[in-house]
Amino acid sequence: MAGSTFGKLFAVTNFGESHGPAIGCVVDGCPPGLALSEADLQIELDRRRPGTSRHVTQRRELDRVAILSGVFEGRTTGTPIALLIHNEDQKSRDYGEIARTFRPGHADYSYLHKYGVRDYRGGGRASARLTAPMVAAGAIARKWLGEQYGVIIRARMTQLGEVNLGLRDWADVAENPFFAGDMNQVAALETYMDELRRSGDSVGGCIAAEALNVPVGLGEPLFDKLDAEIAYAMMGINAVKGVEIGAGFAAARQRGSEHGDEMSPEGFLSNNAGGVLGGISTGQPITVNLAIKPTSSIRIARRSIDLEGRPTMVATEGRHDPCVAIRATPIVEAMLALVIADHALRQRAQCADVVVTTPSIARRT
Ligand SMILES: Cc1cc2nc3c(=O)[nH]c(=O)nc-3n(C[C@H](O)[C@H](O)[C@H](O)COP(=O)(O)O)c2cc1C
Repeated sequence: MAGSTFGKLFAVTNFGESHGPAIGCVVDGCPPGLALSEADLQIELDRRRPGTSRHVTQRRELDRVAILSGVFEGRTTGTPIALLIHNEDQKSRDYGEIARTFRPGHADYSYLHKYGVRDYRGGGRASARLTAPMVAAGAIARKWLGEQYGVIIRARMTQLGEVNLGLRDWADVAENPFFAGDMNQVAALETYMDELRRSGDSVGGCIAAEALNVPVGLGEPLFDKLDAEIAYAMMGINAVKGVEIGAGFAAARQRGSEHGDEMSPEGFLSNNAGGVLGGISTGQPITVNLAIKPTSSIRIARRSIDLEGRPTMVATEGRHDPCVAIRATPIVEAMLALVIADHALRQRAQCADVVVTTPSIARRT
C-alpha cells in the first residue's frame, strides 16, 4: 500500500531517510544457496557512491553495507536478507534554509501537502540516497541472474546536457567518471562539467541500459508485462522523466515493414522491440533508454514561496550533483536486474513444466 516494496517473488522493501542514522532494505525471496558476501554488494555501491570524482556531489559517504541476515556460511539461506548502510556525512547546516521554503523542482512542496509533515534534512525520504539500498539489492539479483542464466546487465550515459556520448567500446564505460562509452570524449566532458559547476547551474542526461542473455518467456500480461514493469522500476528512480523500450518514441516514425523484427532460424534480424513482445521477453537483448532531468538544487536563485505562501527566492549552496544522471547509471542497472530476477522466479513458479516444441531462435548478444 505505502509504496516502499518492489517486486513480488524477489521483493525489496526499502527504508530510511537521507539524514537519519541509517538506510537499508530487506530482500525477501532470494533463492537459497547463492554465494554472497558484502564485497559482492560493495563493488556496485562504490560505483554509485558520492564523492568519487569532482564531477559529482562531494558528500562523503563510504556507503559501507552490512548484511544482517539471510546469509549463513557465505551462502543465502532463502530467508530475508537485511542490508544496512549507515549515513555518515549528515551536514544538516547545508540544508537549514530548506525548512522554510520549497525548492523548485524538488519534492518539498508535494511531500508537505501529502503528509502534512516533512523531513527537510537533505530531501528526507525523497533523497536519491535511498537508491543506495536498491543498488545493493540489485547486486544480489544480478549475481543470481548471472549464475543461473548468464545474464549480463550494463548501462552507459548517452547524453550529458547538450553533449551526445558515443560508444567506442563497452570496456571504456568503467574507465571514466561519466560512464561514457568513448574515452576520446572524456577530456571534453571534464571541461564541460568544470564550466557547468562554475556557472552554478545543472544539466540532465540520458542513459541506455541493456540486459543480455535474458531467457525467452519472462513477463506477466496483462498488467505485469516485462516492459511495463521495467518502465515502472525506472520511473521509480529519482529524477527520471522518460523511459523508452527498444525503438521507443522513434517507433512512431517507422513503417511496419521496418519496425517489426524479422526472424530467421539463426535469430531475430533486428531489435526494435527491445527484447519484449506482448510484455514477454523474446530472448533478445532488453534495451531501455532513460531521460533524466537536471539537478534541482542549484546555486542560481529561483522564485518560490515560503511556508506562509509568501514569495521568496531559493538558491542551494549545499553539496549536489551538477548532473544526477551520471550517478544514476549503476542505479538503472540495479533496477533492471531486480525486475528480471523477479520475473525469472515468477516464470519458474507458473511455467516451469511447460514444453514448447518450436525451437527458440538463437540469441543475438
Ligand atoms: C544519483 C542521484 C543523485 C541526486 N542528487 C540530487 C541533488 O544533489 N540535488 C537535487 O536537487 N536532486 C538530486 N537528485 C534528484 C532528486 O532526488 C529528485 O529530483 C527529487 O527527489 C524529486 O523527485 P523527482 O525528480 O523524481 O520528481 C538526484 C537523483 C539521483 C538519481
